[in-house]
Amino acid sequence: MHTNDYINRELKYGAHNYHPLPIVLEKGKGVYVWDVEGTKYYDFLASYSAVNQGHCHPRLLKAMTEQAGRLALTSRAFYNNKLGEWEEYMNQYFGYNKMLPMNSGAEGVETALKLARKWGYKVKGIPNGEAKIVVCNGNFHGRTITIVSMSSDPDSFKGYSPYTPGFVKIPYNDTEALATALSDPNTAAFLAEPIQAEAGVYVPEDGYLAKVRHLCTDNNVLFIADEIQTGVARTGKMLAVNHENVRPDILILGKAISGGMYPISCVLADDEVMLTIKPGEHGSTFGGNPLAAAIAIEALEIVKDEQLAENAEKMGQLFRDEMKAFKSPLITEVRGKGLLNAITIKPVNGKTAWDVCMAMKENGVLAKPTHGDIIRFTPPLIINEEQILDAIDKIKTSMNEFVSPS
Ligand SMILES: Cc1ncc(COP(=O)(O)O)c(C=O)c1O
Repeated sequence: MHTNDYINRELKYGAHNYHPLPIVLEKGKGVYVWDVEGTKYYDFLASYSAVNQGHCHPRLLKAMTEQAGRLALTSRAFYNNKLGEWEEYMNQYFGYNKMLPMNSGAEGVETALKLARKWGYKVKGIPNGEAKIVVCNGNFHGRTITIVSMSSDPDSFKGYSPYTPGFVKIPYNDTEALATALSDPNTAAFLAEPIQAEAGVYVPEDGYLAKVRHLCTDNNVLFIADEIQTGVARTGKMLAVNHENVRPDILILGKAISGGMYPISCVLADDEVMLTIKPGEHGSTFGGNPLAAAIAIEALEIVKDEQLAENAEKMGQLFRDEMKAFKSPLITEVRGKGLLNAITIKPVNGKTAWDVCMAMKENGVLAKPTHGDIIRFTPPLIINEEQILDAIDKIKTSMNEFVSPS
């Protein structure tokens, strides 16, 4: 079978809820992936930042296969010998009292929303049924009905009504609007991404997160940070909130806490928040299974041992410096933090961000456009200087093709 055969089979038998680049991958190692024709590429998406440790990291593979051969799933009807170890590890790593394990990022977000409402009623004393959660325009927190109810993107919410009530939308990076929303005594929480990644890598101005923290504290409102994409060293610190020394009341992690091996998410909070949920009031068949515990501990050990935050900081700076110095009529902006970066594309000769991604594919770099005119560049955090310079060269070559066709 060739590339087109695989694509046609997916189109025939699978739902059409994605629009992938026309490439079929079959192997990955480190920063590279290979397609079914054997061509090698730099992976500059890293599975939407889930593969921060690189594809098929040998230490992760070992931890995963060893645990899978011993005990994979127990459900939470019984204790298992790995979950407590993982919980203790996470609380020490991130500095919270308690962790609640789930699987997908969206489930992590749902968990945080439930915790915020419970806390709002039981601790803050909000009248039953009145709790509000403030969110930002341009957010992306997942795909459940409740989460798309918070979205301002019609592609996410259109056609899925009726929506879950109780959300107040304000502009991102706007502390005046936030102050107004938080002054409502029925506000339980403010939920935000420290950098809006899916929206197109929007970095708020310096001081925004610190101001958010102060406003939440002053108004007795929980600050929930969705670090599913920005966390685990992606932006050059272990957490993006660390750039401003901010500690959220509820921290949501996903994606790279598994190094891409397996869907794992979790929520961290202190007892005042976490213990508002009692036995039987929330959970998941797979959440907290021993396989996930073994993978997550190893994935985070790798981040520490290989100094991925420091590397993301250095390589990200290099990427932005190089791309900002590169003068192309296609590029209108280069922005980002660490290795979470985006370039906005102005169509030239009718060629769009999609065409640029197709040309980059032909030259050996895989990235995906978002919202029509933005390309996100998020390679695995293990990328070294030689590799990133080589990839940058290929990106520049691809863009040059549109301006001076050969
Ligand atoms: C910030 C953020 N939150 C939540 C999610 C949802 O995670 P999942 O796709 O694992 O449900 C994503 C996914 O891209 C994300 O970037």
